[in-house]
Amino acid sequence: MELTANNEDGSLILIKQGAEARVFESTFVGRRSIVKERFSKKYRHPSLDSKLTLKRLNAESRCMTKARRLGVSTPVLYAVDPVQHTLTFEYVEGPSVKDVFLEFGLHGIVEERLDDIAVQIGVAIAKLHDGGLIHGDLTTSNMLIRNGTNQLVLIDFGLSFTSTLPEDKAVDLYVLERALVSMHSSCGNVMDRIIAAYRKSSKQWSSTMNKLAQGAILFCSCASKGSKTHHGWMSLLHSSIMYYGKMKRCP
Ligand SMILES: Nc1ncnc2c1ncn2[C@@H]1O[C@H](COP(=O)(O)OP(=O)(O)OP(=O)(O)O)[C@@H](O)[C@H]1O
Ligand SMILES: [Mg+2]
Repeated sequence: MELTANNEDGSLILIKQGAEARVFESTFVGRRSIVKERFSKKYRHPSLDSKLTLKRLNAESRCMTKARRLGVSTPVLYAVDPVQHTLTFEYVEGPSVKDVFLEFGLHGIVEERLDDIAVQIGVAIAKLHDGGLIHGDLTTSNMLIRNGTNQLVLIDFGLSFTSTLPEDKAVDLYVLERALVSMHSSCGNVMDRIIAAYRKSSKQWSSTMNKLAQGAILFCSCASKGSKTHHGWMSLLHSSIMYYGKMKRCP
């Protein structure tokens, strides 16, 4: 069953159409909200498709709830609809970290704001990882800054899964590092600040850092052999992310 433009809970305004989900702005019991709909894949058998979509929907809501239990700020989950395959969340008012960091490059935001956000990111990831949760899609678009309080809010647990393996934690950090390098080079050594906060906050930082360093060494040696091998390493990492994302969702 697919959502229509106007449902009984109020109008739905499409804000993002992805490959796996559509994200709408709406209202829920009078409150501004976000509705995330996982849509069906026409090429799959309908009953298998429904089972898989529901599994992913439940995994996303469980991982988000687990993150909240671990002390990481996430939007409040208002409702799960297993028939329409939707999750309804609190609408977080405020910019994404992506927008704040891009602004830093354009007009220059105060250094302390950048520092504060970097520390919040490092602490939040440490809490997730020490609690055995891997976000799976740590990009600056999936981090919001709540207006007024400047509190970091993590969103989009669609690729999250539970794991205590340092390899998985290292890949999570590596994804973030790549996102920062490609999108926010004007923000200088922001990853160093994130890692410093992560190390201070995580009890298990050392095994994760070892894996991250091993990955970096492998990356450097591959890159020095030419861009073709470099891309091989990148795609290996990406496929492992997809593999882990598919295999190890929140139970
Ligand atoms: N709770 C929220 N409050 C405000 N804006 C939100 C909220 N949740 C999502 N958004 C906005 O919608 C965009 C897309 O949401 P989200 O990242 O969850 O979906 P997605 O990237 O399409 O998901 P997936 O990667 O699982 O397919 C976000 O980048 C953000 O701009
Ligand atoms: Mg997203």
